[in-house]
Amino acid sequence: MLRDDIASLRSEAAAALNDAADLAQLEQVSIKYLSRKGLVAGLFKQLGQASAEERPAIGQLLNELKQELEAHEASRKEALTPKAKGPAFDTTLPGRLPWIGSYHPLTIVMREIVDIFTRMGFRVADGPEIELVKYNFDMLNTPDWHPSRDESDTIYMPNGFVVRTETSPVQVRTMEKKDPPVRIISPGRVYRRDRPDATHSPMFHQCEGLYVDKGVTMAELKGTLLFFYRELFGHDTKLRFRPHFFPFTEPSAEVDVSCPFCHGTACRICKHTGWLEMGGCGMVDPNVLAGVGYDTEIYTGYAFGLGIDRIAMLRFGIPNIRLLTDNDVRFLSQFSGIMPR
Ligand code: DAH
Repeated sequence: MLRDDIASLRSEAAAALNDAADLAQLEQVSIKYLSRKGLVAGLFKQLGQASAEERPAIGQLLNELKQELEAHEASRKEALTPKAKGPAFDTTLPGRLPWIGSYHPLTIVMREIVDIFTRMGFRVADGPEIELVKYNFDMLNTPDWHPSRDESDTIYMPNGFVVRTETSPVQVRTMEKKDPPVRIISPGRVYRRDRPDATHSPMFHQCEGLYVDKGVTMAELKGTLLFFYRELFGHDTKLRFRPHFFPFTEPSAEVDVSCPFCHGTACRICKHTGWLEMGGCGMVDPNVLAGVGYDTEIYTGYAFGLGIDRIAMLRFGIPNIRLLTDNDVRFLSQFSGIMPR
């Protein structure tokens, strides 16, 4: 019976459409059932065998079957067609790195300085930035007439305090607390009434050094500083000691290093002298040692003070000291790849 054939073809074709696993299989199913020579068209051809009364109803059934299967085919086609848009993000792109902070150039240099001196047996000592006049000047053997005490150079606070002008008072504070041997460095901030320009700032950084023991000599001071500057600027670095005066050392010297840029042959950085001034040093004046109760017949010592900002500026080619305190991220982020040791 035609009605039975329609019913069985309906369920057979629906199952076949559902089973099609991809577009190629769907195409095969469509050809088999829905093409001009397909099975549905075959049933239409048998319509003539139906009786005259039944023909319209069966014709309608066949039309419904055809429409139903065509709709089914369309929805399967839609389901099996890959989406043109693809995934929401491109998994082949490189990931976005998080923003990470960086070390300040002064931190990098300070850690390097500490690293070199601790390898030579120095320990890091600390002292206050608001300092007693007693430690900043008096116990460092600074005479009353010395220009560094002048109000035009030093920022005075009430009640016998100054904002320290140098890291040297840490020497006195350390020796007061401990008997020899003493071997310390002390990096930190210092303040002076300096007119700001490209190389001067009212706040800058120094590193103090002190070694007191039996039989400490100037030769040891020179060897220690030579090792330090060679570690910092390279192993062909030379040193020059120029006689000078500091109240707390006798003899005293200023230290120059051979220019690490032109290796002493003269360039713009060293102002065509071949040398760069790095700091002061000397043998600790017996008055300073006696002031903290050390026996000057037994103990001698050397001391030095070096400028940290200067080193950072040379090291990284920083043209203006103000860049170190301006807090400009465009400047600071340039040091993100440089890790302190
Ligand atoms: N305090 C000196 C300054 O600020 C630097 C200095 C020189 C420190 C000689 C020392 C030293 O310990 O022995 O200019």
